Amino acid sequence: DGYVWFEGIAFPVPDFKPEVLREVRDKFVVKDEDVITVTYPKSGTNWLMEIVCLIHSKGDPKWVQSVPNWQRAPWVETAHGYEILQNSEGPRIFTSHLPIQLFPKSFFHSKAKVIYGMRNPRDVFVSSYFFMQKLNVAKKPETQQQYLEWFLQGNVVYGSWFEHIRGWLSRRQCENFLVVSYEELTKDTRSVVEKICQFLGKELKPEEIDLVLKYSSFEFMKENKMSNFSTLPDMFLNEGFSLQRKGVTGDWKNHFTVAQAEVFDEVYQQNMAGFPPKLFPWE
Ligand code: A3P
Repeated sequence: DGYVWFEGIAFPVPDFKPEVLREVRDKFVVKDEDVITVTYPKSGTNWLMEIVCLIHSKGDPKWVQSVPNWQRAPWVETAHGYEILQNSEGPRIFTSHLPIQLFPKSFFHSKAKVIYGMRNPRDVFVSSYFFMQKLNVAKKPETQQQYLEWFLQGNVVYGSWFEHIRGWLSRRQCENFLVVSYEELTKDTRSVVEKICQFLGKELKPEEIDLVLKYSSFEFMKENKMSNFSTLPDMFLNEGFSLQRKGVTGDWKNHFTVAQAEVFDEVYQQNMAGFPPKLFPWE
């Protein structure tokens, strides 16, 4: 089916290997100074990574314009990213889509900081459905309806959205864990950037924050070859792909039928019943 399976979770070939995934979970040493962006795919990962990188450079765009984001803030679970991280000295910025049970165990005894980015799962679904049309490395759904069924069953790359969020949000009281949402980012980017600065202990001047906002904007990232995935080899993505598709909240309303919205709500309620709704800006 074009996937690599590890512990019941599907990963797209070719940059994933069960032996690497096992080693990442059991052996990778997370350092106290590491900063990690964790998301379920299509939740605004690349936007958050860009913000974190720009905070690190105090708004100077040189770094984000010269190194592709998958090398600047590598995905620890990919064979390529794992290698980069193992060989890099000093504090690292990295990324992961892993569900909590597959995340490096050493993190849980470290002071490393995780910024967990979440997004309305309906918009995650729509973003993911469009992404799947361009992705050359995973099984393509025949229709949106079929993909919705897979998504609600968790029968998709990186597994179930519901399990991902439930697992990670169990850490929401921890000091080294910050939750941000795509919705609050879209509504008031500056406040979220300031919150991330505070969490990371970085003091940026207002002018430096202005630069972070400028260079992580949708328009700038869409043009930046180092942030729009256009430098990724063709074997992964179709030509002409841009990661920056639409960049809005609530696009699901343009794509769901009434029946699909109802089924989604039902499965959502079944899975999320225990959480206080205040946690989720889309509720
Ligand atoms: P849409 O497909 O809804 O447009 P990820 O980085 O996790 O793969 O998420 C991709 C989604 O984030 C896409 O959503 C993309 O457009 C959006 N995105 C990427 N960069 C963005 C930015 N700078 N500002 C707002 N949205 C952005």
